[in-house]
Amino acid sequence: MDEHLERLWQSANKIHMPIAFTKSKIMAEVKKTLEVLNVKRAYIRIIITRGEGEITLDPQAASQNNLVIITKELSENPKWWYKDGVEIIIADTKRTSVDSMDPSVKSGNYLNNILAYNEAVKEGAFDAVMLNHDGHVTEGTTSNIWIVKDQILVTPPLKAGLLGGITRAKIIELCKSENIQIEQRNITAQELQDADESFLTSQTRRIVPVVKVNKTPLGSGKPGKLTLDILNKYNKLI
Ligand SMILES: Cc1ncc(COP(=O)(O)O)c(C=O)c1O
Repeated sequence: MDEHLERLWQSANKIHMPIAFTKSKIMAEVKKTLEVLNVKRAYIRIIITRGEGEITLDPQAASQNNLVIITKELSENPKWWYKDGVEIIIADTKRTSVDSMDPSVKSGNYLNNILAYNEAVKEGAFDAVMLNHDGHVTEGTTSNIWIVKDQILVTPPLKAGLLGGITRAKIIELCKSENIQIEQRNITAQELQDADESFLTSQTRRIVPVVKVNKTPLGSGKPGKLTLDILNKYNKLI
């Protein structure tokens, strides 16, 4: 929760949106909502709006923040993801650039991601990965992406234009403590297609092995060894 709220605060700051609530107030409201939902594993969406007011683009017209908390039961990930892996595509839709709509801001504006996801749906793929305007890999539509090449784990750097995933940060920490070699560097579309292994990460899905990119199988065509090793270690940590 600390990391999530910190990212929420940083995101609000980047879009010049003051937040009238305290983090402890939001924590308390989330707790109350979860008590009512009463499930073992829950999805939680915390939304802060600028508030109500005249219809205009001018944020000054908004009165005061509204807080919306949406929760629902979250089922366990399907077993086939780990047995067979999933297929992704590289979308034609490019990720918005850092100097237009900064992808490091976690906002409700998912239109860019939705357009890319639609491409994946049309191809029967699980998800789409978006490139930036320099042709480098950024992220999935609701996840961060990783590749393994010659035993080295690689993920794009934040400056490629992506959301700083909390799962991503945890895996970087985990790899450091487990002496797993990791690089944060630009990845080209070709490198992604030539990877030995790949996986996606997010808080709701944790780690999802990728076995095909644009219909081309990666490595053995099955979830990779290092991917499954990191998955095991991550699950233990959580
Ligand atoms: C665009 C995008 N990238 C990455 C992520 C993964 O972030 P996290 O690990 O914090 O769930 C998400 C999660 O919603 C996302 O929407």
